[in-house]
Amino acid sequence: MNDDILKNSSLYETGNKYLMHTYKRLPVIFTRARMQYLWDIEGNKYLDFIAGYGCLNVGHSNKYVVSALKEQIAKIIQPSNIYYNIPQIMLAKKLCEISGFGEKVFFANSGTESIEGAIKLARKYSTDNYGPSRYEIITFKKAFHGRTLGALAATAQIEKQKLFEPLLAGFKYADLNNIESVKALLNENTCAIMLEPVQGEGGIYPADKEFIKYLRDICNEKNILLILDEIQTGFGRTGSMFAYENFEIKPDILVVAKSLGGGMPIGAIISTEEIAKSFGPGTHGSTFGGNAASCAAGLSVIDYIINNNLAEKSKRLGKYLMEELLKIKNKYAVVKEIRGMGLMIGMEFNEPVAEKIVTDALGDKLVLNRVSDSILRFLPPLIITKENIDTLTGWLDAEIKEL
Ligand SMILES: Cc1ncc(COP(=O)(O)O)c(C=O)c1O
Repeated sequence: MNDDILKNSSLYETGNKYLMHTYKRLPVIFTRARMQYLWDIEGNKYLDFIAGYGCLNVGHSNKYVVSALKEQIAKIIQPSNIYYNIPQIMLAKKLCEISGFGEKVFFANSGTESIEGAIKLARKYSTDNYGPSRYEIITFKKAFHGRTLGALAATAQIEKQKLFEPLLAGFKYADLNNIESVKALLNENTCAIMLEPVQGEGGIYPADKEFIKYLRDICNEKNILLILDEIQTGFGRTGSMFAYENFEIKPDILVVAKSLGGGMPIGAIISTEEIAKSFGPGTHGSTFGGNAASCAAGLSVIDYIINNNLAEKSKRLGKYLMEELLKIKNKYAVVKEIRGMGLMIGMEFNEPVAEKIVTDALGDKLVLNRVSDSILRFLPPLIITKENIDTLTGWLDAEIKEL
C-alpha cells in the first residue's frame, strides 16, 4: 500500500474519490481481523456481530482456513475448468455428502452468480423435460437473491428493481407463509419455486415449517423444482448444517455461497443427477468458478464446522441470544419483535432507530448491521462466546434505554 496515503490520513477522502458510492459505508477502515474480532487502522479492537454479511461463520482469518489456503496457493491457484483440480473434486464430493440429496455440483464465485446459474438450470431442465413455455419461477415478496439482472428479477423488492427495468421476464411473487398466494400463481408454465428458508436481507423472516412442507408437496405433485437459496442460511447459521434440515424437507436445487469460502469468493449450485443432466457441455460456465484456492478454503470451512460442532453451537447460542433480546423487548416498548433461527436473528423496532444504533455501536467498538431503518440483523461468527453475547445485549439494553 502507498505509505503517503496512510500517513496523511486522507484514506476516507481517497476512498470517496475513487470508489463508486453503491454502499453507504461506515467511517471505519479495518486492517486486521481474527475470529470474532476486528482491528481498525488505529489499532482499536471491535467485536463483530455481522461477520462480513454472513460470510464468516468460522470467524475472520480462521487459522485452519488460512493454513489450508496458504498450502494450496503455494501449489496451484487457478487451473481452469477445462482440466480437473483436486480441491474442486473433493469439495463437490463433500457438498453432495453433507447436503443429503445432492449428486452434482456447479461452482461459481458469488451468491448472485450461483442464483443466475440455478435459474438457467431450472429453465433448461424444464425445457428438456416439459417444453419451452414452462419457464416461470415463483419467488417471495421481501426476498433477496442478488443484484445481477436475473437474480434481481427474483428479488421481489420493487425499490431495488425499478431502477433497472426491464428485468428478466418470467418471475411471479407470492407472500411468504401464505399458501393461497402460491396457489394463485401456479400454472402450467411454472418451472420452479425459489425461496430463502429464512429471508435475510428482507428483514429476517423465517418460513413456517408447514409452508415449506406444502411447497415441497406441491412441487412433487406438479413436477416443479424447489430451489432453496441457502446463501445466507447455510453452513450452520440456523442451527443445522443447512436450514432445510430444520424443516425436514430436501430441495431439488440448493444454492450456497458466502460462508462456504471462509472469506474467499465462491458459490455453488447443488442438484440431483437427473437435473444436472440438463447442464451439458457449453450450457454454462465460469472462468474462476471452482478455482483450487477457493475450493481448498471451502473444504477446510466444512471440516471446521463439523469438527467444532458449530451448527449445534449456533442453535444453543442462538437460543440464548434470542432469550436475552426478548428480555430487552419486554422492557422497552420501542422494540417491536425479535425473530430468527439459530444465530440469524432480527430485532425490529417501532421507530426508525436502527441507523443511530449501528452508528453508536461502532463508536463503542461493536460492529452491528441494519437491514432497514427499523430492523437490526445479527449474524455473528458462529465461534462467538456467551460472554460476547452478554457484551452485546448489555450494550443494547443501555442504548435502547437512552433512545
Ligand atoms: C439469500 C441471499 N441470496 C443471494 C445473495 C447474493 O449473494 P452475493 O452478494 O454473494 O452475490 C445474498 C447476499 O446477501 C443473500 O443473502
